[in-house]
Amino acid sequence: MVEHLNNEKLVLEDSKEITLFQLSVIKDRIIQGDALEVLKKLPNECVDLVFIDPPYFLQLPKKKLVRWNAKTTVKGVEDDWDKFESFEEYDSFIQKLLIETSRIMKENAALWIISTYHSVHRIGKIMQDLGYWLLSDVIWVKNNPMPNWLGVRFTNATETIIWAVKNKSAKKYTFNKDLAKEFGIGKVGANVWTIPLCTGKERQKDKEGNKLHSTQKPVELLKRIILTTSNEGDMVLDPMSGTGTTGYVANQLKRNFIMIEREGKYIEGMKERFKISPSIPKKRKKSSIEEELETY
Ligand SMILES: C[S@@+](CC[C@H](N)C(=O)[O-])C[C@H]1O[C@@H](n2cnc3c(N)ncnc32)[C@H](O)[C@@H]1O
Repeated sequence: MVEHLNNEKLVLEDSKEITLFQLSVIKDRIIQGDALEVLKKLPNECVDLVFIDPPYFLQLPKKKLVRWNAKTTVKGVEDDWDKFESFEEYDSFIQKLLIETSRIMKENAALWIISTYHSVHRIGKIMQDLGYWLLSDVIWVKNNPMPNWLGVRFTNATETIIWAVKNKSAKKYTFNKDLAKEFGIGKVGANVWTIPLCTGKERQKDKEGNKLHSTQKPVELLKRIILTTSNEGDMVLDPMSGTGTTGYVANQLKRNFIMIEREGKYIEGMKERFKISPSIPKKRKKSSIEEELETY
């Protein structure tokens, strides 16, 4: 583990006075600030891999959502960071984020961006309009999804992760094929990953013992992304890092990281998380859904 991860040097606060972040200063650190501002201050072509888990813009109704069995309420993503006035405002945010990210990516760097059906199609269109070249979309199947709300739609048990390079001429991107075979379904490693939602000990908690973040991503998901599409010593950027899953896994897998996050409570959570030596799950036993999909 990188030595300074255990002390206060882990977090660096952005400020108006800072105009450019030197790579040597921000390597293996979390920058607290607004991603759209901080990204502008990162050097050109300095990262090998980017993972973005942006707001979903779920547009949940203001009133409490009660499940169809009338027994439980739905705890969705009610955080302010997920709220936008309109699709126009959301699209403009995503567009700015992706323009700046492309500038920071090395020539053959890859970008992964995750979302649900609420916004992933908009994100994909914006990416293509900006010249990104889409390589795959991985379907993350949750074998423990949130229970169905009203019984009027399919249970939402998937998220989509788009994998792309910044333009069509980026041909020498990293793809560790043998690991893709190990993680994806079937003999050739098709683009379906079955991974449970992050629960139990892995889930970061606040002081009251409640979950710290509504959308903490599983370590196993980042492990697959980082192992299949980067190499040891690479620089991994996550501009909306939440509980810091990306940096936490990157560090354990001997990659470097730069993370950005605006909210203080998540920054505190990341500090706590990095105090504990990360443990990356070894090869998992396949679930029954995965066994079934193997026949595909
Ligand atoms: C979907 S969550 C990421 C969760 C993360 N992948 C994890 O495993 O915990 C999105 C995060 O983006 C942060 N965020 C939203 N807008 C931001 C902005 N403009 N600048 C920096 N962070 C932002 C939110 O505070 C939130 O933690």
